[in-house]
Amino acid sequence: MNNLEIFEKRHSVRKFKDEQIPEQDLKKIMEAAIKAPSGKNIQNWHFVVIENKEKIKQIAAIIAKKNELLASKIADQEKKEHFTRYLRFGTHFKDAPVLILVFVGDYPITGLEVMEEADLPAEEILKAKKAAPGIQNIGAAVENMLLAAAELGYGTCWMTSQNYAATEIENFVGFNEDGYQLAMMTPLGVPAKEPTSPPKKDLAEVVTWLK
Ligand SMILES: Cc1cc2nc3c(=O)[nH]c(=O)nc-3n(C[C@H](O)[C@H](O)[C@H](O)COP(=O)(O)O)c2cc1C
Repeated sequence: MNNLEIFEKRHSVRKFKDEQIPEQDLKKIMEAAIKAPSGKNIQNWHFVVIENKEKIKQIAAIIAKKNELLASKIADQEKKEHFTRYLRFGTHFKDAPVLILVFVGDYPITGLEVMEEADLPAEEILKAKKAAPGIQNIGAAVENMLLAAAELGYGTCWMTSQNYAATEIENFVGFNEDGYQLAMMTPLGVPAKEPTSPPKKDLAEVVTWLK
């Protein structure tokens, strides 16, 4: 197989067959994750792999409860309905056989202290922060994980919309290492149907070639 074909195999999958995932496949997927590059090779990631269906359902319930609490504080009716409607994009993993949580640890931004001491304009400092290299590390690990899963025939879905319930989820799974916080999660399982993806922008729209 031409390795580049793997990019056609990965799709966001939100419904799964009721099939358990063999341990050796999960291990391969996690091995792929930790082979990712990271700034200064800091590897500021931690993964919590949940294979217990009851616990996965409980996490979905925690998110639903936080959604309800937050929605109750929204005065504007339209905004409230919109927020409530989007709950399904944060809980569709509830019947998946596996849920993987990815935590991000602190990462010192190279040059930030120097920029601050040099009294550079706030926008320049903000730019360096917004590029968020610590989060970029997690992105690399997550993409490795999703591509490895796709290669083995599994579906996944990168999910962040439920992060408003991060504290409750962290407490539930009991991973509270200093400096770490929940960054994303993905279900993993055999797709219920042949997966597809929405269209992508053309190269011409997103690439500037300088020659
Ligand atoms: C950072 C990030 C956050 C995402 N959050 C969610 C989410 O919370 N819920 C969800 O259903 N999909 C989520 N997605 C999946 C996107 O909707 C999906 O990648 C996009 O529609 C393109 O489809 P594809 O993954 O099949 O190519 C997220 C993707 C990324 C990269």
